[in-house]
Amino acid sequence: MAEILFDLATEILKSMGSLAAEERRSSSNLVRDWIKRLKKVFFEADDLLDDVATEVKHRKLFNKVDVIAKDKASLNLVERRQQPLLPEPYSVQLNLDRETYSFVPDGEVIGRSDDKNKIVNFLLDSKVEENVVVISNVGLGGLGKTTLAQCVFSDEIIKKNFDKALWVCVSDVFEVKMIAEKIAESGGGKKDNYPQLDAVQNELRKMLDGKKYFLVLDDVWNEDPLKWSRLKNMLISGAKGSKILLTTRSDVVVKVSGSVHKHKLGDLSEEEA
Ligand SMILES: Nc1ncnc2c1ncn2[C@@H]1O[C@H](COP(=O)(O)OP(=O)(O)OP(=O)(O)O)[C@@H](O)[C@H]1O
Ligand SMILES: [Mg+2]
Repeated sequence: MAEILFDLATEILKSMGSLAAEERRSSSNLVRDWIKRLKKVFFEADDLLDDVATEVKHRKLFNKVDVIAKDKASLNLVERRQQPLLPEPYSVQLNLDRETYSFVPDGEVIGRSDDKNKIVNFLLDSKVEENVVVISNVGLGGLGKTTLAQCVFSDEIIKKNFDKALWVCVSDVFEVKMIAEKIAESGGGKKDNYPQLDAVQNELRKMLDGKKYFLVLDDVWNEDPLKWSRLKNMLISGAKGSKILLTTRSDVVVKVSGSVHKHKLGDLSEEEA
């Protein structure tokens, strides 16, 4: 089939070449017009041949896919559902393995009282100018940043000093609307997904307006300052003294989030470890 198509295409090209020469040579308008129409038909035939050739390629490809599919059946492979990059609707199903919560972990928490006191002191510091400030708890993976944030979050002193305490696990997708929805949900707002960013923004404003709140953003990776400023714009309605504590592995995140204080988490001592 491929050879026949190739021969036909070659014939057409040759004919078109001699027709072009004839068209240039001829002084008769009638002949030139006839040659023009003939060339048009040849062009259409050429296009048609291209289509047929593509069809032949498709068939060959489908045959290859069929063979691969048959081979797969003989390997007894089990299909697993892939997690979508952004599930519809956005939900905490994303990164289930990294999802965290605000409760103190079951086991005993060892040797972090100094770290905890330092962070609590910054959280209760009333000298800061801005209404809402960010502080960061930064350190290597697995050092205990989330654990420490959980200890801080659950301390009675936080309940006494803030009107609202909110916990959101961010993880690797920093989708502003999704985070805003999680914050709203954590603060007792409607659980469903808001149709528009505007709607969730209004919900947050209503919820945080004039309230001194404490928000933990756990496991943050976003290094895009624009996304940070969009999120922060939604959170500025809190009362003076409101604080955001984020946990992250990245110093860049500390910078772009505009953290006013960085708490660098160190290793536990050998005894504690
Ligand atoms: N001070 C501690 N005492 C006892 N167990 C701890 C302590 N700190 C952390 N762990 C345990 O170590 C593990 C890792 O801690 P955690 O999840 O807090 O680390 P992380 O710094 O948040 O890690 P990642 O960067 O991956 O988020 C958990 O199982 C946690 O319970
Ligand atoms: Mg963590």
